[in-house]
Amino acid sequence: NSQAERPALTLLIAAPRGFCAGVDRAIEIVERAIQKYGAPVYVRHEIVHNRYVVDSLKEQGAVFVEELDEVPEGAPVVFSAHGVPKSVPAEAERREMIYVDATCPLVSKVHRQAERQIEKGRHIIFIGHAGHPEVIGTMGQVEEGEITLVETVADVEQLEFEPGIELSYLTQTTLSVDDTAEVIAALHERFPEIHGPKAEDICYATSNRQAAVKRIAPASDLVLVIGAPNSSNSLRLVEVAERLGTDARLIQRAEEIDPSWLDGVGTLGLTAGASAPEKLVREVVERISEWREVHEETIVAAEEKMVFKLPRELAD
Ligand code: F3S
Repeated sequence: NSQAERPALTLLIAAPRGFCAGVDRAIEIVERAIQKYGAPVYVRHEIVHNRYVVDSLKEQGAVFVEELDEVPEGAPVVFSAHGVPKSVPAEAERREMIYVDATCPLVSKVHRQAERQIEKGRHIIFIGHAGHPEVIGTMGQVEEGEITLVETVADVEQLEFEPGIELSYLTQTTLSVDDTAEVIAALHERFPEIHGPKAEDICYATSNRQAAVKRIAPASDLVLVIGAPNSSNSLRLVEVAERLGTDARLIQRAEEIDPSWLDGVGTLGLTAGASAPEKLVREVVERISEWREVHEETIVAAEEKMVFKLPRELAD
């Protein structure tokens, strides 16, 4: 390709993007479990919501299942970064399974907060997306009937509680910072006495990635977000760009990009959800470079230095 055939494109790459400390840790847990126990090591649910990551772990000897009853007797099992309801480790104990919990420590923190609210005699309103494994896991820390899920301000309006009941709210870690602020404001309006967490439950990685998209989107004609359709934090990045009036698309791999998307695009924004490896970002840059003369610029919204300890049984 000659330069003349490749018109210039400014590529604004968001930072931070991609892997968070919880995802790094979860992947390392599976790799170390394979080293320690030998293949196959079973993993309950996709360890993180990314097909590339899942496929590379499969190659190393991981076997992915949805439920514990799919794990053969005596085989080790890892629980995914999203967390699990209490019934899952309880069942593993009952079956005397070897299990390692890769739940992100920031999700575990919300689990403990949920227990504490119940100990204090409060009913929990949980802000999250129905059906997401993290939501199932956190709601499964307490008894049914002790926690109510809301997704939107409209849901808050529908809530009805007995008078005198003490309320508290908690949230999923990968929500939209702005939407959640609105839901929390609606909760405070309807239930002025409601208790909230001291620090926000939305994790540092989720909020930093959204902040970075807010920096690149206004200057971009199109934003590409690398992430899986079941990845909550990635979907939120698409929404953040769209809210700012910029077209945005979620892609899993570079091969999905249709060259026609870049028609009339002078500045392209690029980011990746917390479960997407940097390799996939480079793959996108390379593919676009086949069609356009790319000028890369990294826009840094925050520095991240978070590292989480491995579970004791897998630490050196
Ligand atoms: Fe944990 Fe947030 Fe990543 S909750 S797994 S650090 S997106």
